[in-house]
Parts: sequence; C-alpha cells; structure tokens
Amino acid sequence: MKILSIDTSCDETAVAITEGLKVLSRETYSQILLHEKWGGVVPDLSKRAHEEHIDEVVSNTLKKAKTNLKDVDYIAVTYGPGLAIALGVGINKAKELSLMYDKPLIAVNHMEGHVYSCFVQNSEGNPHREFIFPYLAFLVSGGHTELVLFSDHCSYKILGETLDDAAGEAIDKATRLILDAHVYPGGPILERLAEGGDSDFLRLPRPMAHSDNLNFSYSGLKTSLFYTLKKHDHGWRETHISDLAASFQEAVFESLTIKLQRAMKQYQINRVIVGGGVSVNKLLRKKIRTLVAEEKGEVYFPPYTYLNGDNAAMIGVAAYFKAEKGLIVKDIHMMERSARARIDE
Ligand code: KG4
Ligand code: ZN
Repeated sequence: MKILSIDTSCDETAVAITEGLKVLSRETYSQILLHEKWGGVVPDLSKRAHEEHIDEVVSNTLKKAKTNLKDVDYIAVTYGPGLAIALGVGINKAKELSLMYDKPLIAVNHMEGHVYSCFVQNSEGNPHREFIFPYLAFLVSGGHTELVLFSDHCSYKILGETLDDAAGEAIDKATRLILDAHVYPGGPILERLAEGGDSDFLRLPRPMAHSDNLNFSYSGLKTSLFYTLKKHDHGWRETHISDLAASFQEAVFESLTIKLQRAMKQYQINRVIVGGGVSVNKLLRKKIRTLVAEEKGEVYFPPYTYLNGDNAAMIGVAAYFKAEKGLIVKDIHMMERSARARIDE
C-alpha cells in the first residue's frame, strides 16, 4: 500500500512516499532562510512559499521513489494543528490530487504524525520496532508540549499539555532574548550556546513542578529571564551567554522530565516514545533516558534525525494505520483545515 503524504503545517513544504512503515522517498522545501531575519514564521510569506514550491516537491518525491500518482493507493495530508493558511495549501493540493487521480484521502493530525515518528523505517525496513501498547507519548515541539496516552493504533488521550507557551516556543523566545537578536529557530542555537555553560548560574523557576497535574506552563519562565536580563547591562549578558543558555535549558528540561516521571508513575506505564523538534536535543534525551532507566522502562526516540522535526514521512506512516482501519475522508469537499485540532478529538 503506497501513500503520498503532504505536511504544510508550518514552515516546511514536506512530501513523502511511504509503504507501510517504510519511507520510499521524501522531499522537503524548508522556509527557514525566509523567516530567519524576522525571528519567527511570517504567515503570509509561509503561505506563498508553500504555494510556490508544492508542485515541485510533489513531483521530485515521486521521481525519487520512481513511481507516479497512478501507482499510489492513498493521498494523506495534515489537517491540523498548525498555521491555518499554511495548512490550507497542503490540503488543497491533496484534495486536487485525490480527485484528479481518484485516490482516497486520509486526514492526519500533525501530532499523531509525531507519535508515529518513532516507528518510521527507512526503505530497507530499519529499524524494526514492535508495537507493544500502551505507550506514553511525550510530544515536545515548537507549537505543542503534550503527554499523550497512546493505547492502540489511532487511539489517543491527552493526559497533560501546556497551558500557555510550548517548550520549543519558550526556547525560541529565550534564545532571542539571550542573544538580543532575531534568530530562528532558537533550539539548535541554544543547545550549542549551552555547551560548557553553568546550568546553576541562574536559578530559574521550574514551572508547574509542584502542581498536582500533568500540565506545563512556560510563559512565566520566559518572563523571569526577561526581567533578569533587564536588571543587568549588555556586558553582563554578553559575558554570560553560555551560562544563561545552560540555565534556561535546564529549567525547561527539568520541568518536562518531572511531568514525564509523574505520568509514568500515575499511569503505571514505563514504555515511552518521544517526538517533536525539541526531542533532538542531546541533553533532553539524556535526561529522559536516565529517568526511564530509573523506572526500569523503555524509551524510543525518532530513529533518524529528520524525523524529530516536521516531515511528511511520519504523516504517511500514521495514515497507513488509519487506512487499515478504514479511516478515510468521506466527503472530500467538506474536509477543512483545523488550526487547533487536538489529537484526541
Ligand atoms: O516539531 P517541530 O519541528 O515543529 C513544530 O511542529 O512545532 O519543532 C520545532 C521546535 C522549535 O521550537 C525549535 O527551536 C525546536 O523544535 N528545536 C530544538 C532543537 N532543534 C529544534 N530545541 C532544542 N534543541 C534543539 N537542538
Ligand atoms: Zn511538528
């Protein structure tokens, strides 16, 4: 069963051809250079860039897999959550291809894609990971921070989520504050800056650490950093860039892992899967590995680097399990984007 999948939820025009869990080909047009100088994603620019590149990305992906649309069995597309006008471009293209080639359409939730990212295989079928339900899926991206009970294929329940900023978003904002510059995305930069820094330099709050639930909150942490920087002069900030970066990362990652541990204990589940752009971070991975080992559990991260961030391969793999259950779009004309779609609705 071959699936052509499309994700235009944010700043990547991503297309993949998958067969079951295997990725036959994938192509991405990244808009990072376009948004970098603005310090974040500019919606109108994003929409236009998706429109300009989507045809070329679709045809290159097909070419790479040495296939054509007639040989594809399904078209899959991310319907949300994400940037509304960006989502719309991918959805329109998917509808067009589905109608033109008479292929059933599968609508996939972007976060569902991040859940399946840990099980995506290369074209040879590696790595091979059995599904042993239930899992705790820990999704840490630029738009979301969620703890999800993944109890069976296509079956999810959100156990905890951020009440304001996502962890990645907070990291992006903090990087701009610490460097006093428009940079985007901040995560990889902050990770590099934090190397060799003193994570105890600044004692930032651990948001929600003591609250008796599985939710997160990051906007206060960013505000706390903002006021600390305001109290000091430029020179102080410049001298302590590494220490500030390490302290901020530590605060974010510690509050993430506190909640993961609480969820593992509360739900008595010690199998964890981690996904989303922030999950590529080495320090975060180390902290999660240590914690899961303490709980005598097992943890999976996305097996290939590209699978941490946004991509269409994970959408294609999630779509495969939806196709198996017959979860296809009944009325293509009625299918709409949903910028705030939840994984468990
Ligand atoms: O999943 P993703 O690519 O897009 C969304 O769906 O949001 O996640 C993007 C987020 C950004 O906030 C970015 O700064 C963060 O992932 N990120 C990182 C690293 N690389 C990307 N955060 C921490 N360390 C990194 N190395
Ligand atoms: Zn994402």
